[in-house]
Amino acid sequence: MRKNIVAGNWKMNMTLPEGVALAKELNEKLKSAETNCDVIIAPPFTHLASIVAVVDTNRIKVAAQTCSNKVSGAFTGEVSPDMVKSTGATAVILGHSERRQFFGVTDEQVKEKVDLVIERGMTPIVCIGENLEQREKGIYFDVIGTQVKKALFHLNPDDFRKVILAYEPVWAIGTGKTATAEQAEEVHSFVRKLIASQYGTQVADDTTILYGGSCKPSNARELFSQPDVDGGLIGGASLKADDFMGIITAF
Ligand code: PGA
Repeated sequence: MRKNIVAGNWKMNMTLPEGVALAKELNEKLKSAETNCDVIIAPPFTHLASIVAVVDTNRIKVAAQTCSNKVSGAFTGEVSPDMVKSTGATAVILGHSERRQFFGVTDEQVKEKVDLVIERGMTPIVCIGENLEQREKGIYFDVIGTQVKKALFHLNPDDFRKVILAYEPVWAIGTGKTATAEQAEEVHSFVRKLIASQYGTQVADDTTILYGGSCKPSNARELFSQPDVDGGLIGGASLKADDFMGIITAF
C-alpha cells in the first residue's frame, strides 16, 4: 500500500529562530489533528538538527532540500549525505527544478545522490517535471520519462521502493498557476505506468507520487482526489502553519 504524504519545502526561507518556531507550531497543531497522511518538512540545512530536536519525529519527518553527490572531502560549501543523516533528518529532496535550473544539477548527479541517500538509509524525494516551453511543445512525457529513467531505473526493485517521486511542473512552481487536477493526473498515471513497465505493477502501485506547484488549501483536495496523486510537495503554502495544516487535512 502506498503512503499519502504532504511534504513542505521551505526553500531559502526562515531564519533559525523563525524555523524552529514554525516547526513547534506545526508539531502542536498536529497533536490534535486527525490526519490521513505522513508529514515531512524540509528546512534549510542550518535548521535541521534544531528542528529534529523540537518535533515528534514519529509525526513529522525532517528532510534536507538537497545534498552533495560526494561522500566527503574538498568540496567547499557542500553538505554530504552523512552530514544530513547525522542531524537526525531521514529524507532528502533531490533534483528539485530550482537546483537543476540555478545550480546546474544534472540527471546523472541526481542518480549519484539517490544512491548515496539510499545507502545511508534515508528516503530520496526525487523531483521531476517539465518547463513551460516543453509543455507547450507537447514533449513533456519525453522529458519526464527521461528524468525518471536516468535518475532511478538503475535501482533494484527493493531500493526503488524506498523512493518518493514528486511531479512538479516548473511552470506551476511559485507562479500561482496550478496544474489542473486532470493535468496532474495525466502525468502521474504516465509515471506510474512507466514504473510498472520497469518494476511491475505491484511496485508501481506502491510508489508514492506527490504533486508540487502552487498547491494550497483551496486546491489540495481536488488534486489529492485524483487516483494517482498521493499528496503534495508544498513550497509557499508550507511557510504558514495554518495553510500547511489546511493541505495536510485535505486528505
Ligand atoms: P510552490 O513550490 O508550492 O511554492 O509552487 C513547490 C516546490 O517547488 O516544491
